[in-house]
Amino acid sequence: MECTFTQEAPETLATECLVVAIHENRRLSGAATALDKALNGEIAAIVQRGDIEGKLGQTLVLMQPAGRPAVRIVLVGAGAADELKATEFHELVARGAQAASDLHVQSYASYLAEVPVTGRDAAWCLEHAVMATHEALYRFDRLKTRNTRAAQVQSCRLGLRDIAADAAAQALVVGQAAANAMTLAKNLANLPGNLCTPSYLAEEARALAERHGMTVKVLEKADMEALGMGALLAVARGTHEPPRLIVLEYQGRPGTAPIALVGKGVTFDSGGISIKPAANMDEMKFDMSGAAAVLATMQAVAEMKLPLNVVALMPATENLPGGSAIKPGDVVTSLSGQTIEILNTDAEGRLILCDALTYAERYKPAAVVDLATLTGACVIALGGHAAGLLSNNDALAGELQKAGDTAADRAWPLPLWEDYQKQLDSNFADMANVGGREAGTITAACFLSRFTKAYPWAHLDIAGVAYKTGKEKGSTGRPIPLIVEFLRGRARTA
Ligand code: BES
Ligand code: MN
Ligand code: ZN
Repeated sequence: MECTFTQEAPETLATECLVVAIHENRRLSGAATALDKALNGEIAAIVQRGDIEGKLGQTLVLMQPAGRPAVRIVLVGAGAADELKATEFHELVARGAQAASDLHVQSYASYLAEVPVTGRDAAWCLEHAVMATHEALYRFDRLKTRNTRAAQVQSCRLGLRDIAADAAAQALVVGQAAANAMTLAKNLANLPGNLCTPSYLAEEARALAERHGMTVKVLEKADMEALGMGALLAVARGTHEPPRLIVLEYQGRPGTAPIALVGKGVTFDSGGISIKPAANMDEMKFDMSGAAAVLATMQAVAEMKLPLNVVALMPATENLPGGSAIKPGDVVTSLSGQTIEILNTDAEGRLILCDALTYAERYKPAAVVDLATLTGACVIALGGHAAGLLSNNDALAGELQKAGDTAADRAWPLPLWEDYQKQLDSNFADMANVGGREAGTITAACFLSRFTKAYPWAHLDIAGVAYKTGKEKGSTGRPIPLIVEFLRGRARTA
């Protein structure tokens, strides 16, 4: 699927399907008004009759509008004029794409990106229209032997007349890069654990590095042993699948300190000896969503050619019970030298992250952001609306929160107060890997904070936002929009 951009007038555009917005209270959008003139008031008449009220997401298809080059017109409700929120804009554009897809057209043109959004400019609308269109048309059917769908939309032309050509070109590059990254992350995360293994992720990283001229390094078990990554290795003991620490380096501004992105890559989390209940355990294939987002973000960074150095660190392993698996009570030594009493083998994410976070020190990073489906407690606290945000640096946290707001991919802060640290006290080691039932998301971050003292660091707990459960089960590609926005900000100020 490809999105392009056009400044042509909607009434003269030849297309299989033309999508325009109708607001509430019988108000036609700019594109609908232009079209209505060319159709001698036909659209206004339909709206007057009340066939479409303009409620957000409503659709109405008009076939063969007389004498117009468009074969079909789809009217999409855009709610009250002038007060669309960023998330509503995504919903609007997605409904337009869905309507075109339901009509089985190969290509269509949409003027929904022209609908004004509170506090956002035309470039934002174009960027996000590209993302929302890809989002709506995404399917994961590579593992189905019979393709149940008829024709698939191949291309979408986004009409936006009130924007400078260079701003539009730039917005298209950014939107397309973010959308491609989300598609890549979704494909990786939706792939089941038997196919998406740590070595598979490493091969994907190699291929990406090859395509974009990045440096890739893959640490194997022997390398981890030589370095002393006792925490990461501890998690990997229960499975036959060999662990990997995947490192990707992008150089967009040689000689400057990089941003390090660290992604949790547990390709399947059974809980280990502290095994999880059977219900919905399949969803633990998504426990590598952090690594998928980090890997995919590197692709976006390369496609946007950001003038910035970025290094991606993705510790990857399965967490399974087995004869050699770690047991509750085991004590291991992390790469930092600190010892950890493993009281619950299901708190494995922090164990693999802590060694990757210590390893990050060697890059002398300007900032480190880790992305991890770390705690069920975060799903309880924030649901699917926002990632949990914890940091040892208020400026960095503020930057990330703002990037999330801008990108309509929010994060929300939780405190990292010293008061919580004592929940990790252990009688037998420097710390325990769990801190009890209370404040589970915070104590998980407290654990990580003991390995991140050398640099400004922020942790995004993405357990609630990275995938959907139930009927819509699948990866969301979040928090890629947030991270891409954050990195663009850093590139501007670097
Ligand atoms: N991968 C899970 C966290 C998770 C749970 C993500 C549900 C998405 C949905 C993580 O490894 C885990 O098992 N965390 C434990 C920590 C606990 C043992 C302190 C949890 O949240 O229950
Ligand atoms: Mn776990
Ligand atoms: Zn996990």
